[in-house]
Amino acid sequence: MIRTHAPALPWYEDMEPGSGGLEPRAWYADSDAGRISLNGEWRFRLSPGAATRDESFARPGFDASGWATIGVPGHWVLQGAGGAPAYTNVVYPFPVDPPRVPDANPTGDHLRTFDLPAGWPGDGEVVLRFDGVESCARVWLNGRELGDFKGSRLPHEFSVGGLLRAEGNVLAVRVHQWSSGSYLEDQDQWWLPGIFRDVTLLERPRGAPRDFFVHAGYDHRDGSGTLRVECEGAGGRVLVPELGIDVAAGEAVTVAVEPWTAETPRLYDGELVTPGERIGLRVGFRSVVVEDGLIRVNGRRVLFRGVNRHEFHPETGRTVDAATMRRDLVLMKQHNINAVRTSHYPPHPAFLDLCDELGLWVIDECDLETHGFSGLQWHGNPVDDERWTPALLDRAARMVERDKNHASVIIWSLGNECGTGRGLSAMARWIRGRDPERLVHYEGDPSCRDADLYSRMYPTHAEVELIGRRAEEPLADAEADARRRAMPFLMCEYAHAMGNGPGGLSEYQRLFERYRRCQGGFVWEWIDHGLAHPEHGFAYGGDFGEELHDANFVCDGLLFPDRTPSPGLTEYKKVVEPVRIEPVAEAGSVRITNGYDFANSAHLDFEWSHEVDGAPVGSGALDVPELAPGASAEVPLPMAGAGVWSVRAVLARDTAWAGRGHVVAWGQTEAGAPVVPAAAVGARPERDAGLITLGPGVFDAATGTPVRLGAVPVEGLRLDVWRAPTDNDNGAAWLPDEQYGARWRELGLHRMQHRTDAVEAGADGLLVRTRVAPAGVGPGLRTSYRWTADGERLGLAVSVVPEGEWRVPLPRLGIRFGLPAAYGAARWFGGGPGEAYPDTRAASVLGRWGMSVDEMQTPYVRPQENGARAGVRWAELADGSGAGVRAEGGAPFWFTARRWTSEQLDAAEHRTGLRAGGTVWVNLDHAVQGIGSRSCGPGVLPEYRLDARAAEFSFVFTPLN
Ligand code: GAL
Repeated sequence: MIRTHAPALPWYEDMEPGSGGLEPRAWYADSDAGRISLNGEWRFRLSPGAATRDESFARPGFDASGWATIGVPGHWVLQGAGGAPAYTNVVYPFPVDPPRVPDANPTGDHLRTFDLPAGWPGDGEVVLRFDGVESCARVWLNGRELGDFKGSRLPHEFSVGGLLRAEGNVLAVRVHQWSSGSYLEDQDQWWLPGIFRDVTLLERPRGAPRDFFVHAGYDHRDGSGTLRVECEGAGGRVLVPELGIDVAAGEAVTVAVEPWTAETPRLYDGELVTPGERIGLRVGFRSVVVEDGLIRVNGRRVLFRGVNRHEFHPETGRTVDAATMRRDLVLMKQHNINAVRTSHYPPHPAFLDLCDELGLWVIDECDLETHGFSGLQWHGNPVDDERWTPALLDRAARMVERDKNHASVIIWSLGNECGTGRGLSAMARWIRGRDPERLVHYEGDPSCRDADLYSRMYPTHAEVELIGRRAEEPLADAEADARRRAMPFLMCEYAHAMGNGPGGLSEYQRLFERYRRCQGGFVWEWIDHGLAHPEHGFAYGGDFGEELHDANFVCDGLLFPDRTPSPGLTEYKKVVEPVRIEPVAEAGSVRITNGYDFANSAHLDFEWSHEVDGAPVGSGALDVPELAPGASAEVPLPMAGAGVWSVRAVLARDTAWAGRGHVVAWGQTEAGAPVVPAAAVGARPERDAGLITLGPGVFDAATGTPVRLGAVPVEGLRLDVWRAPTDNDNGAAWLPDEQYGARWRELGLHRMQHRTDAVEAGADGLLVRTRVAPAGVGPGLRTSYRWTADGERLGLAVSVVPEGEWRVPLPRLGIRFGLPAAYGAARWFGGGPGEAYPDTRAASVLGRWGMSVDEMQTPYVRPQENGARAGVRWAELADGSGAGVRAEGGAPFWFTARRWTSEQLDAAEHRTGLRAGGTVWVNLDHAVQGIGSRSCGPGVLPEYRLDARAAEFSFVFTPLN
């Protein structure tokens, strides 16, 4: 691939992919050929522009002792070496005038000197490899220019053998932040320049292959695997001792095998032995095809329980160490995730080794996105301009050649959000020619011209249902429509996990289970890209003073930036669990269904437990017959007595990603009617000096609000409808309807006024009549609080009647009150341990929970409503001595407690903006609005909308001593 540049533009601005480099080939770690890592401390100098002609730094003898040092791999903007990260989603942070880039083009000169170990190199060639440099690099070794390259997340190699010396080698790399390649890398993430992946010297001994290609298919009809290893540039033998294979490279051999799947990642260790090099192989036999309109692996339809993964670490950006890669995959496996789309570029190649080993289906996506052209109606889009086609083909080849030997990679993706164009077709043609044994994915072209499957992002549930029935809106072109209608369907992105949410996962899953054509999807996205920041905790767009930015749209993951799972991940784990455990209450049994595509249930143990009011009263093993994929059985529970019965499917043995006993799936059923608190009636209110006493409650006689419950001071108890809008409440700028956050504010729900109309103390209690409404508008909520008591306990019945026209749903409907800060220990019986909302409550486990108010907070990177517990029967807040307040619901309620108000939560822009005050604010809600995923996708489904309508709800309060 030795090319030269047209003279008109500097190399970093022309459309060529590079010059001077070697043809791409497979990446592998297991070889007996020598290698030297050039990672480590390098000398570094940053210049503000790229125009400099001064290349003297690349000459041997140059004195760089005055330069800064920088860690390679790494991004200079994250190492205090100058410049700053910048985040934009769609817009390019420079004028769109392809292939030109601005004068202000931060340029990092990197220098490293190194000696060679004795006897190095041996007899043969040496290759210098860069696994990833953003956005381009020009390279010199010992003063000789090797060439240059673009394609940030792709490997680039140069032949350097003849240039090396035993001592004092000087490697010089000039990196520009912006290049023509930047137009192809507009991937909704931080712009982070630098040599961010490994730099390695690799020996290529005489007689070593130039490249090799492992073909390992599986025939499900007879259980055989066929192995053929193409070996280029050398003869060799292929050995797989466990299978008795010893054949010449290039020769096919068929033997009985256990296939590789994401559920059963069976790898066979082997070797490719050539005269010059021994290469370790890990062979997984599997085949992937589209047949009868379905993606089939090893003959079976698969269901993707996927996530989109960007490479991200809060301190090191896209430099991700091996332990973090493994951690990502272990967390995915532990949360029942079986597929990854490497959005929107090939990951560090070692990540794919781990996918092979641990078992994940992979859509490997090319380093390509030109989304910023959408704002120009795609005018000038590089994927539809032949001059760019060599660059596109170069990217396709670098991905496919690098990753072609991975069992886990079953689909190649051309890239993301590039509109449509001939360049994409050229890529697809090339990929199919080179690797006809995998499928091709591309989402951005509705005609699916270049793809083997129909892929979409963020369709509504209703549309997915139509697609499931192959009854979607037709394309104008009948032929294209027929072709697409016959295709399998997946969502390469859905369920935008920004902030609190995503809501509506269960409803999607039901569609995947009902319609075979719907083969699942990939949640957007795995991790929040919040960068560690001294003042903000985690920073998002704008925090580094960017001129253009897209704020916290970069924090939309199932993990917080520090890789703590968010409630969204817990919910996803439950929704996609591969075993269904459903109570058959009348029968006192459970129906257990194996939802795996390949694995039977032999790797699972089943156990039951029985709790009454959250207290354990019994548990044991449950005898479940071994279930084949898709099979189900009804299993009797040793049911006797009321309470909550739980059944769990747990790992029977340790695995590479979780230990024995790890819970894979669970189900619960409640026997007997839930206990409802007895009415608190009988006591009479007593008036005295501006106060009214009713049982354990003391009220302000003028306003009718409680000031004390037993010994506990109570502050500001009243109806509350406000919540700090979530990212999903706010919606997306390009989806103007259902931007509830703005509509709520417009109506004034964040500044409701409370007017007291009457405080009536009668023989049977205290009735407080009020009207709650925002300033400036007519609609309001006629609200009454009826207080009763039985001496020990205080009852409250709230009645709400909307007046006027309410055109927006309410954020919440319930009461809120304050307790002194000391009452910071919570206990409740209800859903837990984590937060839940009406459309995100699948993972809420009914039980008795206890934690501090601080632990009840979900620390979204941009603070917003969080922390509600669903289906709560009773909740307590106590101080260190156990004194406090207990509230029981007339019906299950939503329980939230925090050390700040919703208004303070709403005002904060970062976690560090939240400061605990002297009050614990408690919300007991009769109902709350659902979450949806409108930050980028469908809003709240109608059944989860909290429309304003007449409501009554009640609580019984007891002081705790
Ligand atoms: C998609 C895009 C992703 C991300 C997501 C929203 O359109 O492919 O890269 O931007 O939306 O977070």
